[in-house]
Amino acid sequence: MKLSTFIGALSVLGSIASGALLGFDAGQEFSKAMLVSPHAPLELVLTPDSKRKDVSGLAVKPWKNDIERVYGSSVDSAHVRAPEGALLHIKPLLGKQEEEDLTYYHKSHPGVTFAPTERGSISLKCFGHEYPVEQVLAMNLDETIGRANKLLAEKNSLDVVDSLAITVPEFFNQDQRLALKSAAELPHGVKAQLVNDGMSVAIDFALKQRDFPPGEREHFIFYDMGSGSTRASLFAIEQPLNKSEPLMIEFGGYGFDATLGGTKFTQNVAELLKNKFLEQNPAIRTEQLNRNARSLVRIHQAAEKAKLVLSANIDASVSIESLYKDIDFKAVITRQEFEDFSEDLTGRIIRPIEDALKNQFFESPIDITNLKSLVLTGGSTRTPIVQKQLMHYLGSDLIARNVNADESSVNGVTIRGIQLFKSFQTKAIDILDRSIFSYGIVVNESATPIEIFPRGSQYPNKTSFLIPPTNYTSEFSIDLKENGLTFKKHIIETSPIQEKFSEEACPQGVAFNATFTLSQERFFDLESIEAICLHNSKNSTGLFKKFFSGGASRQEQEALGKGSISDVAPHKVKLLKTSEKFAHVSPMSNREKLRVRQHIDDLNKKDEMRLKSQELVNALESILYSTRAFLEQDDVAADGPKQDIESLSEYVATNLEWLDYESDEASVADLMEKINHISSLKDKIELYLMSSGEPLNFEQFSELHANGSELIQQFKGIEATANVTLEALEDNFSEIGLDVVKEYKKLKAPRHLSLSNYKLKDKIEAFEKTLADISSLLSAQNLDSYDREELFELKLIFDSSFSDLVKCLELEQAVQNFKMNELASLHSRRLRVLKKREDRKRSQESSSSLNAANSTFTSTTAGSTSSEKETSNAQEFTIDHDEL
Ligand SMILES: *[C@@H]1O[C@H](CO)[C@@H](O)[C@H](O)[C@H]1NC(C)=O
Ligand SMILES: *[C@@H]1O[C@H](CO)[C@@H](O)[C@H](O)[C@H]1NC(C)=O
Ligand SMILES: *[C@@H]1O[C@H](CO)[C@@H](O)[C@H](O)[C@H]1NC(C)=O
Ligand SMILES: *[C@@H]1O[C@H](CO)[C@@H](O)[C@H](O)[C@H]1NC(C)=O
Ligand SMILES: *[C@@H]1O[C@H](CO)[C@@H](O)[C@H](O)[C@H]1NC(C)=O
Ligand SMILES: *[C@@H]1O[C@H](CO)[C@@H](O)[C@H](O)[C@H]1NC(C)=O
Ligand SMILES: *[C@@H]1O[C@H](CO)[C@@H](O)[C@H](O)[C@H]1NC(C)=O
Ligand SMILES: *[C@@H]1O[C@H](CO)[C@@H](O)[C@H](O)[C@H]1NC(C)=O
Ligand SMILES: *[C@@H]1O[C@H](CO)[C@@H](O)[C@H](O)[C@H]1NC(C)=O
Ligand SMILES: *[C@@H]1O[C@H](CO)[C@@H](O)[C@H](O)[C@H]1NC(C)=O
Repeated sequence: MKLSTFIGALSVLGSIASGALLGFDAGQEFSKAMLVSPHAPLELVLTPDSKRKDVSGLAVKPWKNDIERVYGSSVDSAHVRAPEGALLHIKPLLGKQEEEDLTYYHKSHPGVTFAPTERGSISLKCFGHEYPVEQVLAMNLDETIGRANKLLAEKNSLDVVDSLAITVPEFFNQDQRLALKSAAELPHGVKAQLVNDGMSVAIDFALKQRDFPPGEREHFIFYDMGSGSTRASLFAIEQPLNKSEPLMIEFGGYGFDATLGGTKFTQNVAELLKNKFLEQNPAIRTEQLNRNARSLVRIHQAAEKAKLVLSANIDASVSIESLYKDIDFKAVITRQEFEDFSEDLTGRIIRPIEDALKNQFFESPIDITNLKSLVLTGGSTRTPIVQKQLMHYLGSDLIARNVNADESSVNGVTIRGIQLFKSFQTKAIDILDRSIFSYGIVVNESATPIEIFPRGSQYPNKTSFLIPPTNYTSEFSIDLKENGLTFKKHIIETSPIQEKFSEEACPQGVAFNATFTLSQERFFDLESIEAICLHNSKNSTGLFKKFFSGGASRQEQEALGKGSISDVAPHKVKLLKTSEKFAHVSPMSNREKLRVRQHIDDLNKKDEMRLKSQELVNALESILYSTRAFLEQDDVAADGPKQDIESLSEYVATNLEWLDYESDEASVADLMEKINHISSLKDKIELYLMSSGEPLNFEQFSELHANGSELIQQFKGIEATANVTLEALEDNFSEIGLDVVKEYKKLKAPRHLSLSNYKLKDKIEAFEKTLADISSLLSAQNLDSYDREELFELKLIFDSSFSDLVKCLELEQAVQNFKMNELASLHSRRLRVLKKREDRKRSQESSSSLNAANSTFTSTTAGSTSSEKETSNAQEFTIDHDEL
């Protein structure tokens, strides 16, 4: 069945931008990403060179005075050139401390240097900067999200990725999970969900394998051998008899080997190659070779290729030029040699399966004979020794290879992501997940650990636990444990109860009700804690005492937490604050996240600049070659302006050389300037050639001068006409108390006209200068003494200003017309206003003439009416102006 049929209503969301989801299978050596949005239902995000899987990590190499990041297929060569810059395959380093044994990692990554972070975790150090492992993964994700968003944009979608579902190995502990989660949430605007890798594969399998017999419980082991680790996950899958009920997927057992995988096999091939090289060159000592990171990287890369060849062939030949100090290396390695050398690993191949069957969570455990099939997934299951071992253990009938080994994980994590983020509608699946680890606490470092979620607990889950009464007056601690190891300590502040709960009020002491969660992503934490004042039980005290001595059974504890506490009649409940501290590795603080995000942004910006300058280098290169070809054309060489051709030829030659040797250091501005310089020179030559028919003689320049002077006259004419009109209006305006010239000057032309005629005065002035130049040229009479190119340049200048000013002239006329119209309408508006005022005044006067006192008032204030008029004029005018 096609997975996409499981997602309904994808397009229901319509055309408005919405969030897209990225499913990310974070493998140790390779990663895959799948995009889901209404415009891209379940589409694999390809690498820039159209590969389906991408290198996990990146390489950093020096660039100018800075660094450059390299992704995907270019990583290998960058890695050989600068082994210290390999920020690769960091999955096994997440949530780890530097002092842990990581020789396994160093073996495949010679030259890489670790530095501890302040949080106790690892960062990779190269070229003067330290990259926390979370940042390395985040840069990988950020780059992939960028590609996914580009893919969406190509589909004319406004969506951007805002949710990320990322695979986490089931066996990752709390520290590792926290590190993975921090990394996944570093890219801008992204929420992340961790999804166990076993569950991802099981979901993909269950959805593709439609024919489950209804009502029958079938058992599968998903055997996943990747490059870093091997995992066997036991699942029960059942289609209920009632077919409208959802398919049920239940997790029931698990075994793993955290370091068995493709990388380990490659390391063995590399070891064999190294031995062969040292045998061939007895003068070279092992330590000498081991100190040469570059040689080791090349051996490792050759081993990777040889391993693949050995999967299908009985031998593989290896050849590395100048492997060590100009010594070439040639050798043949046989599959038999490799298998003999890997004997120590063969025993580890089936152990995860045995463990998955041994420690089952199912109510009625199954044995190997009840298994429907063992489903192989992960690239390394193709290795012949692995297949041989599995076949030997299970028989070939049980082994199913019908899952797309490379992509089941990314398919599954994407489907699970859709469900968890509720991004789109999907067919319901009933998923039952169980914890492979146990979770417990220790109160105030007492000797007795208390189990909260035993191994096999279903999750997500939440439970409350009653910590028995004490005389706690000072702060105390709760340690959180995973498989018996403390990973986090909460400090419980008790000061609030010191005020609220006195000894008299709570004679039986104070108990604490702590609520713990095991989240969807299997994070174990103390969610909340409250204090309960105990004041009246005699009955429960014995039980509490028993509890204190560690003698209370789980049932009794639970009874304490539920029924009996009501006997005790809790009175007051108060929430307490907690502060937390991590035992090994702390997750990134928000502050560090901000800082790292900023750093990634800066690097992205630099990448953009680098990309831009690379594009400009390419553009420059092509313009240089096309210009060189242009200059070599017969007509250009024969008829072109000699000086310009010479200078452009020289410029092109110099810059072709510069391109080969110095362009790496060029800035964007440098490159732009070069491109512009060439273009403008070339344009000039082309124009020159185009006007080679020009006479450029006395007659032509006289005509130019005449035409130019005429144009200037036309501008003057517009001004003169305006002056005449203003003069004619002077009386009419002064009658209504306005100065026409003043009003005229206040007028502004509409925006589109004034913008086009911006700096008209300067343009006219410049043009007049050109006319003066022509005029002095003409007065010399004999133009033959002038260089033809100079004359042409003068004509070019004239032509371009002339045609520009012809356009300006039209606009200037429009501006004047506009202003005259404005004056006319100002005049008539003003006239109307005055007339109204006159009418009002007249009616006032006629009524007041009946009243002596009123008429006296009028006459005595007659002198001030004009000043009153002045002010109201001003007001009137302001309004008019606004209306313009
Ligand atoms: C089958 O399941 C659906 C959904 O749970 C329910 O509505 C329906 O009544 C069930 N049918 C039978 C025959 O039990
Ligand atoms: C939650 O965990 C407890 C064990 O602490 C278990 O008994 C219970 O079944 C789990 N609840 C769910 C809903 O899985
Ligand atoms: C609290 O302290 C008092 C006296 O200090 C003691 O009698 C009582 O037993 C204590 N209660 C508990 C629960 O420890
Ligand atoms: C918890 O331990 C701390 C330090 O050991 C101690 O000071 C404090 O009194 C203890 N609190 C209780 C309630 O026992
Ligand atoms: C403890 O807290 C939980 C969660 O707040 C609550 O559901 C439960 O009833 C509380 N138990 C007691 C005994 O107060
Ligand atoms: C004490 O508790 C027990 C059960 O826990 C109950 O049967 C008994 O009646 C209680 N006694 C008193 C005095 O409350
Ligand atoms: C001068 O103007 C006339 C008329 O607009 C035009 O025909 C002529 O080509 C112009 N002369 C030059 C040299 O541009
Ligand atoms: C128009 O009038 C202004 C000022 O009144 C004067 O400076 C200008 O020379 C006049 N222009 C023409 C062409 O008469
Ligand atoms: C000025 O006003 C007079 C009389 O109102 C009118 O005849 C004349 O046309 C006006 N002049 C202009 C230029 O509007
Ligand atoms: C002016 O006349 C009006 C009525 O026309 C009257 O109400 C007002 O009192 C008079 N004012 C004075 C100063 O006499």
